[in-house]
Amino acid sequence: MALGAQLGVTGVNPHQDVTSALARRTGTSPADWFLVFKARYGMQVVFEAIEAARGAGDVVTQAFTCSTAVDPILAAGLRPVYADVARDSVAIDGGRLTVPDTARAVMLQHTFGIVDTGNAERLRASAHAAGALLVEDAAHCAGRMATGTEGVPLADVSIHSFGVEKMLPTRFGGAVWVSPDLADPALRARVAGDLAGLPPIGTRLDLAARTYRNQVRVLNRVPGALGRGTRRALAAARVFEPAIAPVELRGGLPYRPMAPSDWVSAQAAVALGRLDEIEAARAAVVATYLRELAGLVEVPGAVAGATPLVRFPFFAADGATAERLVAELGGQGVYAGRWYRPALFPGVTEPGRYGYDPADPALQVTRDLVERVVNLPTRVTEPEATRISALVRAALHA
Ligand SMILES: Cc1ncc(COP(=O)(O)O)c(C=O)c1O
Repeated sequence: MALGAQLGVTGVNPHQDVTSALARRTGTSPADWFLVFKARYGMQVVFEAIEAARGAGDVVTQAFTCSTAVDPILAAGLRPVYADVARDSVAIDGGRLTVPDTARAVMLQHTFGIVDTGNAERLRASAHAAGALLVEDAAHCAGRMATGTEGVPLADVSIHSFGVEKMLPTRFGGAVWVSPDLADPALRARVAGDLAGLPPIGTRLDLAARTYRNQVRVLNRVPGALGRGTRRALAAARVFEPAIAPVELRGGLPYRPMAPSDWVSAQAAVALGRLDEIEAARAAVVATYLRELAGLVEVPGAVAGATPLVRFPFFAADGATAERLVAELGGQGVYAGRWYRPALFPGVTEPGRYGYDPADPALQVTRDLVERVVNLPTRVTEPEATRISALVRAALHA
């Protein structure tokens, strides 16, 4: 049997291959899935539809996130308001959340791919009691959703990413699931209709997507400031599509929402066919880190065992130690990440636009976790994870 067929890829209609694969994995219907060029544009369509149907209002979200997860709220004319996160899941703490009656939506972010069902249920109850939608940000765990009894998704809308540094080896694409049971059928029809009507990316972005991998390979060989300058120049010439555009640090998005090209979806379809294998490998690496670093670092409590995380997060004793670990591991060729230090990562140039006050007394846990977070790669082998853990141990004892 051809590899494509084994992976459930027909190749005839790549968009359908993707929606079918997502539906199969999540026990949902392919008709409730819609594809987008990047997850952020899926969020924008959803928020714009909510704004159009219900008027301006708030989206309750978290600052322990990427700027691109908040830009769509602003682009849609809604106001982000920040709630504190739970230490266990690094999602908004459902136990401490009060949803204002001006809220149009509450975000349930599966940070690093941590899915805490109990917390998700609390967020759903609070959102619905205030007449707001529960929007799941599953950007870090494409194809996984928080589910309640009988496996029914808890969210009203669920956002998935096939973008750079996420679960799949793809670099572009995303998908949105819209609950067929949304309490407001007119809003449901509007969101689904707007998503279904998106124009696909044009030839320029399709070419940028096709060449991205090689461009990055070459750019990574150009050292320091020269490399960064070349990257910026190519992005300005619209030849290179950056993971985060300058406008995405100023509360905007560079394009109107778009659907993926056939090529982008075909890549996602093939990659989704391997998602079980990818998740199993990442989960085994997470289990290795948990074992090797037990008792040495603080790991979010909801990471109980082999969990398919996009990065393995832990919190160092303090900010200085976190920075030292990132630097020392980097020096040994290990990419230890800072997601999400600073908050609204990688740090926004116009914080006022985002309505984020880093000194907000209500965001103490967020501030503490932002300060101390370090994350390790999970797209490595188990022996490599053991070696990286030894480097962490050595750096901690240095
Ligand atoms: C938590 C989170 N949500 C949403 C996004 C947006 O995903 P995409 O890059 O597909 O637009 C990202 C990544 O940029 C993210 O980290």
